[in-house]
Amino acid sequence: MAELETQQGGLAVPDGWTYAPAPESTDIVRIAERYGHYVGGEWLEASEIYETIAPRDESPLATIGQATKADVENAVAAARNAYADGWSSLPGSERAKYLFRIARILQERAREFAVLESLNGGKPIKESRDVDVPLAAAHFFYYAGWADKLEYAFPNRRPRPVGVAGQIIPWNFPLLMLAWKVAPALACGNTVVLKPAETTPLTALLFCDVLRQAELPPGVVNIVTGDGRTGAALVESEGVDKIAFTGSTEVGKAIQRQLAGSGKKLTLELGGKAANIVFDDCALDQAVEGIVNGIYFNQGHVCCAGSRLFVQESIYEPLVEKLKRRLTTLRVGDPLDKNTDVGAINSAMQLEKIKELVASGEEEGAEIYQPPCVLPEKGYWFAPTVFTNVAQSYRIAQEEIFGPVLSVLTFRTPDEAVEKANNTPYGLSAGVWTEKGSRILWMAQRLRAGVVWANTYNRFDPTSPFGGYKESGFGREGGRHGLEPYLRFDD
Ligand code: NAI
Ligand code: MG
Repeated sequence: MAELETQQGGLAVPDGWTYAPAPESTDIVRIAERYGHYVGGEWLEASEIYETIAPRDESPLATIGQATKADVENAVAAARNAYADGWSSLPGSERAKYLFRIARILQERAREFAVLESLNGGKPIKESRDVDVPLAAAHFFYYAGWADKLEYAFPNRRPRPVGVAGQIIPWNFPLLMLAWKVAPALACGNTVVLKPAETTPLTALLFCDVLRQAELPPGVVNIVTGDGRTGAALVESEGVDKIAFTGSTEVGKAIQRQLAGSGKKLTLELGGKAANIVFDDCALDQAVEGIVNGIYFNQGHVCCAGSRLFVQESIYEPLVEKLKRRLTTLRVGDPLDKNTDVGAINSAMQLEKIKELVASGEEEGAEIYQPPCVLPEKGYWFAPTVFTNVAQSYRIAQEEIFGPVLSVLTFRTPDEAVEKANNTPYGLSAGVWTEKGSRILWMAQRLRAGVVWANTYNRFDPTSPFGGYKESGFGREGGRHGLEPYLRFDD
């Protein structure tokens, strides 16, 4: 290790060549100056407003409504009307047609959505283009297929829609989280009031245009924008039968307390501190790619990010060296450049949180490595970071950082790996890297995590259920399991 340390800051950086800028044009998207709330198929003027910005340069993009309690009640009433007025009794095969249409329109307008997602959220265009938007369309296609087959999905249980679903989503995958929530709700015959996160409302608002194009009956999907106050009003609304929330554990706990005894259905998808576990028999270069994808994908703003790396001691040094070298090739910068690997941090608030936790790591005694990279002056940026010499008690090994920051720890035996990996209040995901199939299964049975990836990381598919244990929440999204929270079986 001593040798590596002396090399710090001076690791081999490829020089002599560089990428030419390859910016994606923003011409394809038309952003309105001002947006209202989408209620009952109409745009309602917002009484309170705020500005949404581009995190890459802090430039204002549009004026957004901050929905009041009255706005939320309006939207819930519109959803209730649409539910009673035909949507819930429509044959599944008819609901499916709308979902298929939405999926196809998302595909047709994919570039527009990808550009807007990167502009408003800060994620690299290659991710929004290749991951977020195609997966969002895939979710609509997938749940369109279930809409007329619910009785086969749950034989002899008489599945019925729940009613009006209130859905609150975060800023890390704005369109994809919308798809995860809206597609199963509609497939099951529910209507929806959805609130996007305050920093990333624009793709949800563009989605309203897709709903109109698809001629979805008015009021089946309503979108109100605003911050946590709007979210709280939705949770409190008497007219809502089910709440689906993705976001922080703190807010998730508050919602659970608030809804206790109310009879409302609830699913929570909350934080994580996933273990990515690398055994000495793995394909090392492949593992390094998986580690990088696991923590630097979407700037680490990922609930299932592989933020705790557990390396078997015998390969610690070569792995850390390879990892550091790989970091020097990551391109940090303009989210709209097609060569960018790590984009902008989503907000000033999130950047502060990352800085605070990174400072705590240094104070507690961990050793920090960041590759040489020039960060743009304007906007919110954080260099990809690796911490070594991390003890399990450090905050950076325990708390969700939600940024491009990896904590490296070690283990000797599979038992020790399991014990350390499970030593967390969370339980959303984990990764295992080994050549042995039997070891993968042995580990997967013992890891207390909703998803365990083997020799890969951050792979998503609409057919596969996703969700957590412990403080990562409960309920599953995706797959047949993802239908259940939107159904009742009681009569
Ligand atoms: P947050 O939990 O406050 O926000 C998520 C969503 O909940 C947003 O739409 C927000 O407006 C809404 N919300 C906030 N307070 C609410 C309330 N009292 N009632 C109902 N809805 C409410 O998360 P925030 O503040 O954006 O991020 C804080 C930390 O949470 C992050 O640093 C990260 O660690 C974690 N987080 C985890 C996410 C995940 O995917 N599991 C997503 C976003 C954040
Ligand atoms: Mg918050």
